[in-house]
Amino acid sequence: MAESLGIRGIGELTTFDPAHPELLTDAALVIEDGCVVWTGPQGQLPVTDAVVDVHGAAVIPGFVDSHAHPMFAGDRAAEFAARMAGQPYAAGGIRSTVARTRAASDDELRSNLARLTAEFLRSGITTFEAKSGYGLTVPDEERSLRIASEQTTETTFLGAHVVPQEFVDDPAGYVALVTGPMLQACAPHARWIDVFCDRGAFDGDQARAILQAGRVAGLGLRIHANQLQPGPGVQVAVELDAASADHCTHLSDTDVDALAGSSTVATLVPGAEFSTRSPYPDARRLIDAGVSVALATDCNPGSSYTTSMAFCIAIAVREMHMTPSEAVQAATLHGARALRRTDVGHLRAGASGDFIVLDAPSAIHLAYRPGVDCIDRVYRQGHLVHERSPL
Ligand code: NIG
Ligand code: FE
Repeated sequence: MAESLGIRGIGELTTFDPAHPELLTDAALVIEDGCVVWTGPQGQLPVTDAVVDVHGAAVIPGFVDSHAHPMFAGDRAAEFAARMAGQPYAAGGIRSTVARTRAASDDELRSNLARLTAEFLRSGITTFEAKSGYGLTVPDEERSLRIASEQTTETTFLGAHVVPQEFVDDPAGYVALVTGPMLQACAPHARWIDVFCDRGAFDGDQARAILQAGRVAGLGLRIHANQLQPGPGVQVAVELDAASADHCTHLSDTDVDALAGSSTVATLVPGAEFSTRSPYPDARRLIDAGVSVALATDCNPGSSYTTSMAFCIAIAVREMHMTPSEAVQAATLHGARALRRTDVGHLRAGASGDFIVLDAPSAIHLAYRPGVDCIDRVYRQGHLVHERSPL
């Protein structure tokens, strides 16, 4: 017989069910076989095999981090300190992590990923994307994706992160490698292809060629666009119906209009602007234009070494003028949309049983209490995977 779990005493339940857009209070939730089967007033909670009372806590869907780079070795703390002392951020810094990653053993990469996966879970991230992009040779990119796919199904081939040192005089040769043998070796371990389209990385024509090759190999498309300066990235994303255009820090009105008329999600990664001391993207302008906005950590050792979605939410609310509820939706439902997933990021009947019990009476506390760990318990597919304060 199926195991069912009831969660009662929910002070505020966020489901993102369009049929019930308002928050439920004094609510309950039932999970069966790893999926949500019922939500409603706790007085009507059906009989279940087990019941957990959360004593008035807020419950939200597990966070969906649609943009992360956890396949690396080493760190760049000194580069961060230099930046805070006035050095600018440049795409070329990626090459120092490439050297460390190439020198690492499989086990070193695997244990760094396990450490970051545990951090993601502790911060309530129950689904995460993992990009390659610090190997930049056929075997190094292939092994990054092979190891990443041990932890997540959302694996992204980012051979086009930057042109590696050995190809600086032959960028066209590197694009040929990425779209040829590297793509062939990596596609079996990847669901997505990504390209860093920006100053110091790849231009619009190169990005288009790389994404089109990925599509032919059966991969979905995403792009690092308009992070360091205005450029063609967003237009390429919309033209190719990419699932997501990420960063979107420097957008023209034409870029905003293009996103608004498309099904491409704008994924904002405020940890990167925080850690590179750059202007934040204008989330309000995008949302007011009708663009679907997601929030992601961009966890990587160079521009955004955070696994805290709550931190991203707090910045999005304080600095990017998102409402707390828009920010939570961006970190859950819209993160799922950026990965073209309908089974996560919400708690409608049928969703995966991925949710967070906050140590707070409302989800507003995620932004209202910056720097405070409000993530009390995390469930994935109905199983308790993190418990900060055991009952
Ligand atoms: O998303 N922008 C490109 N890639 C990463 C940075 C990687 C790095 O600096 O190591 C980003 O910010
Ligand atoms: Fe990134």
